[in-house]
Amino acid sequence: MNEKEIIEIEEKLMANVFSKRPVTITRGRGALVWDIHGKEYVDCTGSYGVCIVGHSHPKVVDAIERQAETLISCHASFYNDVRSELLQKLVQIAPKSLNKVFLGNSGAESVECAIKLARKFTGKPEIIAMMGAFHGKTMGALSATWNKKYREPFKPLVPGFKHVPPDNLEKVNEAITENTAAILAEPIRGEGGIRLPKNDFLQGLREICDEKNILLILDEVQTGFGRTGKMFACEHWDVTPDILCLAKSVAGGLPLGVTFAKENIMSSFRLGEHSTTFSGNPLVCAAACAAIDVVVDEKLPERAVKLGKYFKERLEELQAKHKIVRDVRGLGLMIGMELKFDVLNILLKSINNGVLILDAGRTILRFLPPLVIEKNHIDRVVTVLDAILEEEEHERLRS
Ligand SMILES: Cc1ncc(COP(=O)(O)O)c(C=O)c1O
Repeated sequence: MNEKEIIEIEEKLMANVFSKRPVTITRGRGALVWDIHGKEYVDCTGSYGVCIVGHSHPKVVDAIERQAETLISCHASFYNDVRSELLQKLVQIAPKSLNKVFLGNSGAESVECAIKLARKFTGKPEIIAMMGAFHGKTMGALSATWNKKYREPFKPLVPGFKHVPPDNLEKVNEAITENTAAILAEPIRGEGGIRLPKNDFLQGLREICDEKNILLILDEVQTGFGRTGKMFACEHWDVTPDILCLAKSVAGGLPLGVTFAKENIMSSFRLGEHSTTFSGNPLVCAAACAAIDVVVDEKLPERAVKLGKYFKERLEELQAKHKIVRDVRGLGLMIGMELKFDVLNILLKSINNGVLILDAGRTILRFLPPLVIEKNHIDRVVTVLDAILEEEEHERLRS
């Protein structure tokens, strides 16, 4: 199939819910991908944060190949060797008290499980979430997501959700009632624009939850698995939630959602109250075991610290040089660059110049590269961006 045919088929047959970029990716390795014509790109999208260990990491490929030959499918009502190996590895990397796990298939599903668990454990219906939050698009997760554009067409949503301004413990306190089951937050808001918590907000949430007997759920779907320089971002603030959601990257590129909870909380589920057909699928479990080994053995969180610092500094140089850059922020290899105008044009020009970048809202460029990205890739990204920002500045001055 040539590119024209591929595009025509996707346009014709696929649900029209993704804003497509004009490039057909057919191959990837590490932090690089190639299009159908063989053109190389530095991938700062990491497939929306999925490729922590890089595209087609050889150890993940090897694990998938071996498991595919052995057993692809095994429902969780049967025991399985590779699934039990993964459960052990997951509990080893999780914050200490989070020693029970539900395995799902996506980020939204890991949040759905957290919401149901909070309601079941506490017997209360209300969840307090943050304005600007993103937790996914299934009905429960969507009810916790903030963006009106995603919510409005699908009302009525699940009742019992309230949104409060982030970084404001007073408002959180005001929103709490005797029916509050949990507070749900991202340690760093990703889709919301790479926004770090201010003024000990996370510690404050933990204290409020302890004081009022409310559960704290942290959604680490985007921040987890080494992305920010710690295995989980909550470790930067020394806060352990009662329930933690992880997905995107944890199976080295295959779909896996993980909900961690304290044992007494997870034990509130009775047989059959929560499940999914693919829970603990052996092929996905084998990939996740390999991905965890890679993250640990290759010390990828430390790499995220080092290269994240370098990347951020290089972007700050661009901020100092180009007036159209408003801010550079982030932690590890989760970085945002806020501009004074819409970034779509910059994203498209970057593609033409061999760099793939994400947005996060209208004016923010978002960088979620694989943690195996190399310095020379970062330099390439910065050189491309520098030229594009220069051009944009000139065009804006002229108009
Ligand atoms: C913080 C957060 N939670 C949940 C989700 C939803 O994950 P998924 O798209 O796998 O359902 C995302 C996706 O971007 C996310 O960033």
